[in-house]
Amino acid sequence: MSTVDVISHNAEAWDLHVKNAWQWTVPVSHEEIEAARAGLFSILLTAKKPVPREWFPEELAGLKILCLASGGGQQAPILAAAGADVTVFDNSLAQLTQDRLVSQRENLPLKIVRGDMRDLSAFADSAFDLVFCPVSVTYVPEVQPVFDEAYRVLRKGGSFLFGATNPFVYIFNGPDWDQNRFTVSNHLPFCSLDELSPEEVSRVLQNKETIQYSHTLESLIGGQTAAGFAITGFYEDVDDDLICQYSAKYFATRAVK
Ligand SMILES: C[S@@+](CC[C@H](N)C(=O)[O-])C[C@H]1O[C@@H](n2cnc3c(N)ncnc32)[C@H](O)[C@@H]1O
Repeated sequence: MSTVDVISHNAEAWDLHVKNAWQWTVPVSHEEIEAARAGLFSILLTAKKPVPREWFPEELAGLKILCLASGGGQQAPILAAAGADVTVFDNSLAQLTQDRLVSQRENLPLKIVRGDMRDLSAFADSAFDLVFCPVSVTYVPEVQPVFDEAYRVLRKGGSFLFGATNPFVYIFNGPDWDQNRFTVSNHLPFCSLDELSPEEVSRVLQNKETIQYSHTLESLIGGQTAAGFAITGFYEDVDDDLICQYSAKYFATRAVK
């Protein structure tokens, strides 16, 4: 594990997701952009439930937004079409290419920056009014640098909108889950390589499957307050996974600097 460059590996794994047209890599349509230009926009921090409109300021024109680890030609172009001044930051070249495609197709100004979400040194202190971070910290081993950096690049009073997977899903054995059986076998915090044999780890690395981290609720929620944020909004969400017949799987927070 210590010899794996997780950040580069996951960047390539996301490039592969783009090649396979996975749901979270498919750019928005022209109609969605037109609706956003007309003031009707709807975007996701989690899987299905749209972010409440009141989590954004009433007026988006000129609002400086950082879409953090949010490539794929989805949220960033929608927010730009709604009038915001948007920078999209992601680690996967292919995900950022999706944003470039939409920005060119729709003639939308979009700043595109590649990097690791734990290091936002490309941006000055207080550079943004809002940081929007969908379910992405799953792909980094440490979450606190992400919150500390988001706090630093936000102006005072700015908001941090954040989506995450509820860590409890990682207590279940992955291969059993694939057979629709829920067997409790993993301790949290958990890395998806932990339950695999050396041969299975080699397969994951060779096939460019993502390496995932559960984190803990303490790190995902307490980590935001430790960075200095005040949490002012919360909701949970589901997807089509069998486990969502038993519990929500994702949550989103709104936090203010
Ligand atoms: C679930 S997708 C989120 C974007 C997508 N548009 C969505 O709404 O779900 C996770 C994103 O995190 C990015 N990512 C993973 N690790 C990252 C890292 N260390 N730094 C920046 N982005 C990263 C991936 O490339 C991917 O685009």
